[in-house]
Amino acid sequence: MEQAEIVEQPVVTRLNPALGAEITGIDLSLPMHPEQIRAFRGALDNYGVLCFRDQKLTEQQQIAFTEQWGLLEDFPEENKTVSASTVYNVANVSAQGEHLPETDHRVIFQKVNALWHTDSSYRYVPAYASLLYGIEVMPDDAVGGRTGFSNMVLAYEALPDDLKSRIEPLHMVHSYEHGRRMFASLPPLSNFEKNAVPPVSHPLVRVHPDGRRSLFMTANAGNEISGMPLEEGQALHRQLVEHVSRPEFCYFHKWKKGDLVVWDNRTTLHKAEVYDMGRYRRVFRRTTLAGEGPVLGPYSQEVVARAKCPSVK
Ligand SMILES: [Fe+2]
Repeated sequence: MEQAEIVEQPVVTRLNPALGAEITGIDLSLPMHPEQIRAFRGALDNYGVLCFRDQKLTEQQQIAFTEQWGLLEDFPEENKTVSASTVYNVANVSAQGEHLPETDHRVIFQKVNALWHTDSSYRYVPAYASLLYGIEVMPDDAVGGRTGFSNMVLAYEALPDDLKSRIEPLHMVHSYEHGRRMFASLPPLSNFEKNAVPPVSHPLVRVHPDGRRSLFMTANAGNEISGMPLEEGQALHRQLVEHVSRPEFCYFHKWKKGDLVVWDNRTTLHKAEVYDMGRYRRVFRRTTLAGEGPVLGPYSQEVVARAKCPSVK
């Protein structure tokens, strides 16, 4: 692929003290120089969420931009995507342009995402980052419909020491089927889907290659903590969900048409703010970057080995 010269340095502006940056002055439909992608990766490490304004991206251009970062995830679900299997349509509008009723399971499915979560946490290797492009957005004066983000590094650091010690050895169970438990009107998973994404568990405390720690949890793919009695674990889960919702960790993004928002699924949670789905049309297109390895916790062998041998990065 021909690489564009970097003629203009994009402008990066912090959006919120907790997380998020806005990036202007770059056209993502053009091929990127590898240095530019490296700079975006660094910015995502720093800010957790990047909003590229004023983009005009066809589906193929969004896929091409995403592929320059790394491997894309395929979606395990049947009948949730149109065209490429690496594209996920987050919309209350059908592929034919029909505004779907709130009873349609494709719309109900989005309500599952109104709870804090990190994408693909139900996989053994969860996603690295998600890229969501605003095609049809709500008017500026509409209420709701923002996407909330919460910084899990800050949330972890703010926990009291006794709670940090308590959760250090624990894992959380993540299950794609959990949404079906909460919304009984959703169609059951097919046998294909059940086998594609069986329940998994991940450490509740995630240790990153640079040594940072963060909470790694979900409210839409589970509420069970392994390693403790069921009800005690669910109470701890409720406490942590309340904790990550604290305003000082959060940024709520109000969408403009042409925004491409990229978030780091390793260090942030997100959720869809409720809105009047019967009144407003909303169409987003998501591509997702696959994770680069399983979630490592304080007791994971790789982390322990790294700690014993500091020269190993
Ligand atoms: Fe999501």
